[in-house]
Amino acid sequence: MTVQSSSKSSSDRVYIFDTTLRDGEQSPGATMTHEEKLDVAALLDEMGVDIIEAGFPIASEGDFEAVAEIARRTKNAVVAGLARAIPKDIDRCGEAVRHAKRPRIHTFVSTSPIHLAHQMKKTEAEVLDIIAATVSRARNLVDNVEWSAMDATRTPIDYLCRCVEAAIKAGATTINLPDTVGYATPDEYQAMFETVRNRVPDADKAIYSVHCHDDLGLAVANSLAGVAGGARQVECTINGLGERAGNAALEEVVMAIKTRGDALPYYTGIESTLLNRASKLVSAVSSFPVQYNKAVVGRNAFAHESGIHQDGMLKNTQTYEIMTPESVGVTKTSLVMGKHSGRHAFKEKLKELGYSLGDNQLEDVFARFKALADRKKHVYDEDIEALVDNEITEQSDRIKVLSLTVIAGTMGPQAATLTLDIDGQHVTRQSTGNGPVDAIFNAIKALVPHEAKLQLYQVHAVTEGTDAQAEVSIRLEDSTNGRSVTSRAADPDTLVASAKAYVGALNRLKLKQLRGNPGAVDLAHEARRGP
Ligand code: KIV
Ligand code: ZN
Repeated sequence: MTVQSSSKSSSDRVYIFDTTLRDGEQSPGATMTHEEKLDVAALLDEMGVDIIEAGFPIASEGDFEAVAEIARRTKNAVVAGLARAIPKDIDRCGEAVRHAKRPRIHTFVSTSPIHLAHQMKKTEAEVLDIIAATVSRARNLVDNVEWSAMDATRTPIDYLCRCVEAAIKAGATTINLPDTVGYATPDEYQAMFETVRNRVPDADKAIYSVHCHDDLGLAVANSLAGVAGGARQVECTINGLGERAGNAALEEVVMAIKTRGDALPYYTGIESTLLNRASKLVSAVSSFPVQYNKAVVGRNAFAHESGIHQDGMLKNTQTYEIMTPESVGVTKTSLVMGKHSGRHAFKEKLKELGYSLGDNQLEDVFARFKALADRKKHVYDEDIEALVDNEITEQSDRIKVLSLTVIAGTMGPQAATLTLDIDGQHVTRQSTGNGPVDAIFNAIKALVPHEAKLQLYQVHAVTEGTDAQAEVSIRLEDSTNGRSVTSRAADPDTLVASAKAYVGALNRLKLKQLRGNPGAVDLAHEARRGP
């Protein structure tokens, strides 16, 4: 745990509010299953996150269940749910978080002229009344209420101050002033907090919060500027996942504060050695790859390529390293894995990579590892990470790839024979296509009819060498509602990885449809019925 330095007082404590499961999951394509959300929440709690925003309970039955279950399970963190400024939203949110040891309702309303005129179609006076009524309603359900002024940074400061005053008077304990559209500069954002805190009567009755989007790449800088302006809660997400360009990245905020204590005299309660693990878990369950050169958790964040840098590093690591890899949970490889490695060594390797799996999952991943080691001489850390990612994301899949045979080459048409397991039923189809990938996707479409457009098909090699595993990323867009889902899968055979990634995306698409209309999707029936 990061310790409070003797020169820092409790007023320097910055509370970390993680919204990976709400704003992050709202990001197009980043749908997570119920189990995946529970895994992420458990790790955030273990990591010392102060507030976990677990979801938007009114959005769907699935969201409600996830927030309620996270509320029941979370040991230390405050568990928050999001609610619009609508009575039924607030009541539903209250119901979902009430089992938490420390429940919070987070309610928001737009305050900027453009939102009032075009989205809300309300006057300033009407919005002030809404704030008073909805915050009081939330306070009647829980003691801990956060109120957010959506689009605060494009709201005239006088009106923003009146809104904040109304929210505090009605009982809000946290005031969040988001840069919803990622428009502010750091100086402006800092000044906004200073003005509000100076001008609003009883301003000191609430904690102030930053919530920044990264449209101009300023989310972390703006968040830290808001803290300089007196905010003491930072809303952020693992890997910066979130709407459009994302939210401020939790790992960057935490490590900036930890590394630059001289310039940023604050501290957080985050156990930074779990950051790398959290990044990998969120990347796996959201199927959003982490950019190689991403600060703090990117694959290259601690890699030194040039001769001058390597020379410096050998002489003294501080020449080119401002924080150690170990401080964010990146450990040096000590065990090389191959087909003779046993269960014990494999378990140690998983520990070294930051994974803690249950017994059943461990057995499954070990079997996958053995199968891979039979086909590949050296199994690298990245290979094992891909195996664990596959295991985590496939655990609740209703459709699975059982077998695939492909005829490819210069003599078309290419053909694929695919067998899927759909809710326990095995179904097989042979299809042709314009190339082997097209043939596979046609077979999947024949077995599981769906209205989705392929938006992205990308292949990466997980490691070097011609025997490397291929990692395929797929994005599908549901043509009926424009929503998209993303999925990733790895396999030494690129075509098998392609089939698995497409099927993974389909599982997520069906999951989204189920969330909107529980019980509506009988996959096995659809497959029986055929195209
Ligand atoms: O960006 C935003 O304004 C939000 C609010 C709901 C807090 O996500
Ligand atoms: Zn947001």
